[in-house]
Amino acid sequence: MRVTATTEAAASTAADTVVVGLVEGEGVPHDVEGGVLQALVDAGEAKAKPCHLAVAHAGGKRWILVGLGARGKLSAEGLRLAAAAAHGRARDLDAQIVCWELPHKAREHRPARAVVEGTLLAAYRFTAFKSGDDNGSSKIAELVVSDHVDQADEVARAVVVAEAVNAARDLQNTPANHMTPTALGARAQAIAAEHGALSCEVVGREEIVARGMGAFAAVAAGSDEEPALITLRYEPEGATGPVLGLVGKGVTFDSGGISIKPAGSMADMKYDMTGGAAVIEALGAIAALGLPVRVVGVVGATENLLSGSAMKPSDVVTSASGLTVQIDNTDAEGRLVLADCLHHAVAQGAERLVDVATLTGAIMSTLGRVYSGFWADDEEWAADVAGAAEDAGELIWRMPLHERYAELVKGATADVANQSPLRTGAACTAAEFLHRFTGGVPWAHLDICGTAWDSGRAYAPKGGTGVMVRTLVALAERLGAEGRGAGTEAPRSDAESPQTGSNEDAPAA
Ligand code: BES
Ligand code: MN
Ligand code: ZN
Repeated sequence: MRVTATTEAAASTAADTVVVGLVEGEGVPHDVEGGVLQALVDAGEAKAKPCHLAVAHAGGKRWILVGLGARGKLSAEGLRLAAAAAHGRARDLDAQIVCWELPHKAREHRPARAVVEGTLLAAYRFTAFKSGDDNGSSKIAELVVSDHVDQADEVARAVVVAEAVNAARDLQNTPANHMTPTALGARAQAIAAEHGALSCEVVGREEIVARGMGAFAAVAAGSDEEPALITLRYEPEGATGPVLGLVGKGVTFDSGGISIKPAGSMADMKYDMTGGAAVIEALGAIAALGLPVRVVGVVGATENLLSGSAMKPSDVVTSASGLTVQIDNTDAEGRLVLADCLHHAVAQGAERLVDVATLTGAIMSTLGRVYSGFWADDEEWAADVAGAAEDAGELIWRMPLHERYAELVKGATADVANQSPLRTGAACTAAEFLHRFTGGVPWAHLDICGTAWDSGRAYAPKGGTGVMVRTLVALAERLGAEGRGAGTEAPRSDAESPQTGSNEDAPAA
């Protein structure tokens, strides 16, 4: 879908379909001749109820009226949902050029960004393996964003980010026999080739072993697929702020290994590389936006399978950091991969760390598919990450680190164990395991097990959600703004909330 911005009135654009938001108790902003739209509101057919849809024909165009709710409750998320709803109706009606007339007096919610994201994310379909012509459903060719103020920059930024999210979804949705570690590495290489300031190194099994990454190598040992240690470096000229280290779990299929998973849920494990996909696509977006911040991205890509060469419960391996790890459960493989990748990111110069991983089923039991779990060992860094998630409109919820969780992953025969002897607190003990490998660098951990898939949001079709791409880009934007000096920080889009400092639809405290 082509996306453009205009300061022309929606009625005078080439659009065949115009979307107008309705705010409770407020009239239709720019009605068409004869007051056709207001008449629809007065008749009760068009409502301001969030995402309610009504359609009218007037002045040679189709008009979609979408409810935005009460003005006091407007939010970027509400606008994304409204845009997704309007997109669905417009597509059903075979619209070709859709113009969104942005709501007035809503600047603080960055409506251009929200509407473009909501539309492009809702339009996503994964059809790579469907033969024929995408089951006849038509596609909208162009989205025009109309506002009194020129929104071209906001629109361009939103297009880059939404396309990166959709690209991450493609990586997630692609079956594991196609989305191998090598394929994930090839995607990273392809992105790097598009941007001068971005470079990529991919090394395989031999190098992973040679670099002493015994924990990562242990996971890869059970598979014939070549693993890939993917290192992306984004080094724009003149960036001076701290080097951001983004680390992603790239397990392209997690069978559980010898501690094998039940058959029923195993197919889902193709998306165990979601963290890696988020890191790769976020780096592409960061480079495309030319953000003035240095970034190192590290993705550990491998399968976790069973074979005669697979790691076994009770094995002890030596990680790149020198710490020995006792493998109590081969299904706790993500932390083994990440241990060596975190260490590698620090060795590559990372001065702030964020890892993104589908790490534990426990976080899904706790937070469902609504919030991602969030841990951090440095308050300033925690505030940056929470602020970035808030800017991006992704929900993260702070969870505790504590010495008592750390004690639970002390090994009996080795320095650390990859599983707690208790079944309780598994998401927190996993975080403390990772904590041992961060080398004292301010670190945040995002457990996206629940939010990576089938989130049920109107702008996230079934399957991969591309979660955390938006947050990682927003984080680089924040660091870039800090690096440039005071006063350049992007305006905050949403109101304060409990904990993570304000996720827009967080419950009231
Ligand atoms: N990849 C899984 C976590 C997961 C579960 C992701 C469901 C997506 C959906 C991870 O490697 C895993 O198996 N974790 C174990 C850890 C346990 C053995 C300590 C878990 O959560 O059960
Ligand atoms: Mn596992
Ligand atoms: Zn896993």
